[in-house]
Amino acid sequence: MKGGKKMLKYIIEGGNRLEGEVEISGSKNASLPIIASTILNQGKTVLYNVPEIHDTKMMFEILKELGGSVIKKNKKYIIDTSNINRFEISENLMRQMRSSVILAGALIGRYRKAVFSYPGGCDIGARPIDLHLKNFEKLGINISKNYGNIICSCDKINGEKIDLEFPSVGATENIILAACLADGTTVITNAAMEPEIIDLQKILNRMGAKIKGAGTNKIEIQGVNQLKKEVKYNIMPDRIETGTFLCGAAITGGNIIIKNTNPIEISPVISKLEEAGCKIETKKHEIEILAPRKLKCVDIKTMPYPGFPTDMQSIFVATLTIAKGTSIIVENIFENRYKYVQELIKMGAKINIEGKVAAVKGVRKLYGSNVKAEDLRGGAALVVAALASKRKTNIENIEYILRGYENLDKKFNNLGAKIKIVNEGG
Ligand code: UD1
Repeated sequence: MKGGKKMLKYIIEGGNRLEGEVEISGSKNASLPIIASTILNQGKTVLYNVPEIHDTKMMFEILKELGGSVIKKNKKYIIDTSNINRFEISENLMRQMRSSVILAGALIGRYRKAVFSYPGGCDIGARPIDLHLKNFEKLGINISKNYGNIICSCDKINGEKIDLEFPSVGATENIILAACLADGTTVITNAAMEPEIIDLQKILNRMGAKIKGAGTNKIEIQGVNQLKKEVKYNIMPDRIETGTFLCGAAITGGNIIIKNTNPIEISPVISKLEEAGCKIETKKHEIEILAPRKLKCVDIKTMPYPGFPTDMQSIFVATLTIAKGTSIIVENIFENRYKYVQELIKMGAKINIEGKVAAVKGVRKLYGSNVKAEDLRGGAALVVAALASKRKTNIENIEYILRGYENLDKKFNNLGAKIKIVNEGG
């Protein structure tokens, strides 16, 4: 993502122990496919708990550009896509956000046509979309490429058996969206099992779709003629935001209560924090963490859900930089997800990378420095590190962070952190 005209940065004064309560916002990764799913619904869709972040704003912009109507009233979004009359997602919007590829499945599903360009988004690896396209073709969708545009069209979509080579979250969601209005039944095996896919299944079924199995590795979508219901839906809480606050508390030796969350969905992170010496208590929608003065090292391997989430890798590494001993991290999902490490090293961290393995040797202290966010979660990792650093940390390029976190600075400040947001562009 290119930064906007404004040059926003965080100035963080570290060293404060986090204490108090924080409320988690709606999930970014659930919101994006859910906003796309509203294209399939010929009735009105009302969404609650959509996080106010750059990525959701962009999705609404795209819906409007296609001819849909999006009205914000208090905290709800009222979406009506019955007047959509364009099927081409402009390159400008597409490049700003990789997840806009998710609109393709919904557009083809409803209108049998979609045109988009190769997706943008965070630079955390090759991030191909071959699994999306290959399986669209399996469903009978014709795909052609023209000057960087991908054109999808078909007369009808055929239900099919699809065995995913890798449980890609986006491909699983896109196939579900495309298959809702197919002729016949689609069965996805080796499907991604992320909780956000359950959220997508829930709202689509409320619209009239017939999907079962989300949350397992086998999802069945029985095609129906149309989706047409007035639907009100409350988006699930963001599990990665929960993980970010857990790590913020852990690195500062803090004691916080996290509300409006679902502990089960972030359990691999909770287990690792317990292994590192934190005391954690959970209720149905609440987590309390009490961190020790010094964390212990732990080893981590990122895996598809229910494994340790790749989106927490950088934030956890930041947390372990001042733990006792050496932690070994293996990143199995994306091949380029250690870019933030060079910035942590500027702050005094001792980290060695070899391929997908990082060895994090705990140091006594981190020291604030001038650093740059290179992607969303890498940026969040710098914030977490800065919370425990001596001296001030300046984090540039926080536009990346604002893509995915609602009021991150305010929420941390309510817990006792000192984060200032400044506009360098004047
Ligand atoms: C989603 C999440 C992202 C998270 C990721 C993995 C959203 C909006 N984003 O991204 O935050 O980090 O899941 O949990 O929900 N791959 C292919 N071909 C494809 C698609 C993916 O090779 O067609 C590869 C990717 O390069 C990557 C791996 O599969 O190595 C996982 O990607 P995927 O699960 O698709 O991630 P996203 O859906 O992009």
